[in-house]
Amino acid sequence: MENEKILVLDFGGQYNQLIARRVRECNVYCEVHPYNMSIQKIKEFNPRGIIFTGGPNSVYSENSPICDPEIFELGYPILGICYGCQLMAHLLGGVVAHAPVSEYGKTIVDVKFCSILFQDINPKTTVWMSHTDYVQSVPNDFKITAHTSVCPVAAMENANKKLYAVQFHPEVMHSVEGMKMLQNFVYKICNCVGDWKMADFVKNSIRELREKIKDGKVLCALSGGVDSSVAAVLLSKAIGQQLTCVFVDHGLLRKNEADEVEAVFGPNGPYQLNFIRVNAQDRFYEKLRGVTDPEKKRKIIGEEFIRVFEEEANKIGEVDFLVQGTIYPDVIESGLGKSATIKSHHNVGGLPSVIKFKEIVEPLRLLFKDEVRKVGLELGIPNVLVFRQPFPGPGLGIRIIGEVTKEKVKIVQDADFIFREEIAKAGIDKQLGQFFAALTNMQSVGVMGDERTYDYAIALRAVMTSDFMTADWAKIPYDVLDVISTRIVNEVKGVNRVFLDCTSKPPATIEFE
Ligand code: XMP
Repeated sequence: MENEKILVLDFGGQYNQLIARRVRECNVYCEVHPYNMSIQKIKEFNPRGIIFTGGPNSVYSENSPICDPEIFELGYPILGICYGCQLMAHLLGGVVAHAPVSEYGKTIVDVKFCSILFQDINPKTTVWMSHTDYVQSVPNDFKITAHTSVCPVAAMENANKKLYAVQFHPEVMHSVEGMKMLQNFVYKICNCVGDWKMADFVKNSIRELREKIKDGKVLCALSGGVDSSVAAVLLSKAIGQQLTCVFVDHGLLRKNEADEVEAVFGPNGPYQLNFIRVNAQDRFYEKLRGVTDPEKKRKIIGEEFIRVFEEEANKIGEVDFLVQGTIYPDVIESGLGKSATIKSHHNVGGLPSVIKFKEIVEPLRLLFKDEVRKVGLELGIPNVLVFRQPFPGPGLGIRIIGEVTKEKVKIVQDADFIFREEIAKAGIDKQLGQFFAALTNMQSVGVMGDERTYDYAIALRAVMTSDFMTADWAKIPYDVLDVISTRIVNEVKGVNRVFLDCTSKPPATIEFE
């Protein structure tokens, strides 16, 4: 039997996949499609309901994305969010105008309990607003179901036609009861029961991968991190021995990591994978010599990775597909969506233009980190691997500010090892989303055993996060920090100072470069 489905129509907003993810959290299957999906295709998709996303445009701007108004006549429940709300008003005869006061950030909204969308929601609830236009007057047969002090139509609906719209973003965490509103839409308005599970994702992905790859040969870029490990095991379940996993030791891995990865995925590990380890450390150090610009470093590491893979692929001969463990936050932060480029994550934005594979396969591309972990558990991957903290593709290359050298790699590896060891000893490793040591490019004066030193400063970075898109800096107890700092300065040659990074994301990012 086919799963219930919600269709998300993408009008260019930055939270589109987040909406999809929230619907998946309701155990309802969901796909994001372009705003101009044809009416015919929508009918074939057969959704239980449709969500219009936000977007950066005004309904009046030239080339603003507009869907076919016939969509409102199909009988599907629709929820318009932000731009989606304005578009619904505009297409159905309401008036959208430039708001006299723009609203950005947390806002208190007054909601009407009589709306099904707001059932069990507090009459005054905090939501996330981000708009410059607003609905000035609602279309005929619509009523206003929420307002703020400056926004007369924070929500509107025509319950008979099952058309609902909110000016705010229920999908973001700052909208305190946003998830409840989405649940109301999905369960009470679209009448979904929630029949979709991660096991279905695994089953469907395996089927789709088999259909796509047929008897082709596949190379997987295995880093030993959560994402590529889950991708590799998923692929191996789908196509078995057609898959070869290549693990590149680029000399920018954590201390002992290369051996640990080999122990799990290599010939003595629990999986029957074709596993190749390439020791390419010197080659990477050579390419990175003298390079200080973070984006250049990322691009160089990314490009060199691909070259190594290509060489391995040529040895195997006729490789059709390259698998990568790209996940959704990598995709948007690399600027492949419509949001600004923050960093080019090397497994996406940093791809070289000439690539000698038929196609890149990214089975986790639409998932968030915690969803990838759920997939990992579904696949029977051990907890230690599934809950391993993420490690970026460019590795320590982006945790060493400025030029990367073998010596600096050793410093940061040793400091990081101590940091991780002490955090685990203190029993707080499971509470932290990610934590690591980075090497600042700063040297300063210290004194050790009556000698003047002029050594590097290590920065400790620890964050709490569930989706890695936003993160709070972690308040590690002072006594734990004290031990870490003392050990690092005493045991790691070349370090005489330890800093704690106490910035959240935003405004900082998790990694340093
Ligand atoms: P940022 O630094 O962007 O990191 O806040 C968010 C998450 O992404 C990881 N990260 C990367 N992962 N390739 C990856 O596979 C990359 O180039 C990359 N850069 C950052 C980072 O470790 C954090 O978990």
